[in-house]
Amino acid sequence: MINITGKTSLVGLIGWPIEHSLSPKMHNAAFAELGLDWVYVPLPVRPDNLPQAIPGLVALNFVGVNVTVPHKQAVMRYMDELSQSAQTIGAVNTICLRAEGKGKFYGHNTDATGFLNSLLEADCNPQGMRVVVLGAGGAARAVVFALAQAKADSVIVLNRTAQRGAFLVDDLVETFPNNALHFAPLTDESLMALDGQIDLVVNTTSVGMSPHVSSCLWPTNIPMPAQTIFCDLVYNPLETLFLAQARAAGAKTINGLGMLIHQGAAAFECWTGQTAPVAVMRQACLGEVSVR
Ligand code: ATR
Repeated sequence: MINITGKTSLVGLIGWPIEHSLSPKMHNAAFAELGLDWVYVPLPVRPDNLPQAIPGLVALNFVGVNVTVPHKQAVMRYMDELSQSAQTIGAVNTICLRAEGKGKFYGHNTDATGFLNSLLEADCNPQGMRVVVLGAGGAARAVVFALAQAKADSVIVLNRTAQRGAFLVDDLVETFPNNALHFAPLTDESLMALDGQIDLVVNTTSVGMSPHVSSCLWPTNIPMPAQTIFCDLVYNPLETLFLAQARAAGAKTINGLGMLIHQGAAAFECWTGQTAPVAVMRQACLGEVSVR
C-alpha cells in the first residue's frame, strides 16, 4: 500500500492510452526498495490537452515524468533544455523538473541507454557488429543512435515505408562515421540478400506484440542464421514469434524486457540521483508479462 502525503515527491507517465504500462509498478517498487517517499502515477493525457498538461506539472509540484506514445515528439517544444540524446533521436521519454530554476523542463531520452544496457547485460557488445534494424519509427531512432554511440560497424535499416526509412537515415547518418548507415526496403529479397552477413538483428516494430502474438516480420521461408543474435524490443509476450523462430534456428535471442527496465532505471537515476534497484524493477515487471 502506497502512503501519499503532501511531502511525497510525484512523478508520472504521460501518454494516451496508458492502461497497460508496466512503468508504475516498476518505479513504485523501486521507490519502496530505497525507502523513498516518492510515487509514480499514470497520467493519461489526450493529445489536445498536452499544451495544458505540461505547464500543469509545475503547478502540481511534479518532479519528473516519463513520456510515451503519442507525445514523445510533441513534448519537445515545451522543454527549456534538451539532452544530446533527446536532440539527436528527436524524442523525449523522460522529463526532469528542476527545482532550482522553478519550472525548468529538462527533456532527456533514456531509450538509447536502455537499449544498450540491455544488450550489454545479455553479453552482446555491439561494437564492431554489422546490424540490421527492422522498422524506422521512434524506437528505431533510439536504437540506431545507441548503435552509433557503441561503435557498431554498420547498420542497415529495413522499413516497409521507404520514405520513413530514408528520413531516419538522412537524419542520423552524421552520428555514424564512414557512411555506415543505410536504408533498404523491408522485403523478402532484402532479408535474403543479408545472407548470413549480419551479427545482430533488432526488431523495433510492434509486430508480434500481444494480442497479435502470431505475427512476425521474418518470413518462415527465409533462414535465420544460428550465428546471428536476434533482439526484439517487444516484451509482451517475453518470447515473440520472431524470437521463438530464431531460438528454434539455434540463434541467441534477447527480449525487450531489458530495454524497458534499463530505460526506466536511467529515468529513475535522472529524477532521484540514486542508483536504481534494477533487480527489484525486473521482478516487478516479470509478474506482469505473459509467455506466449
Ligand atoms: P515507435 O515509436 O514505437 O517506433 P512508430 O513510430 O509507430 O512506433 O513506428 C512503427 C514502426 O513499425 C514503423 O517503422 C512501421 O513501419 P512503416 O513506417 O512502414 O509504418 C513499423 N511497422 C508497424 N507495423 C508493421 C507491419 N505490420 N509491417 C511492417 N512494419 C511495420
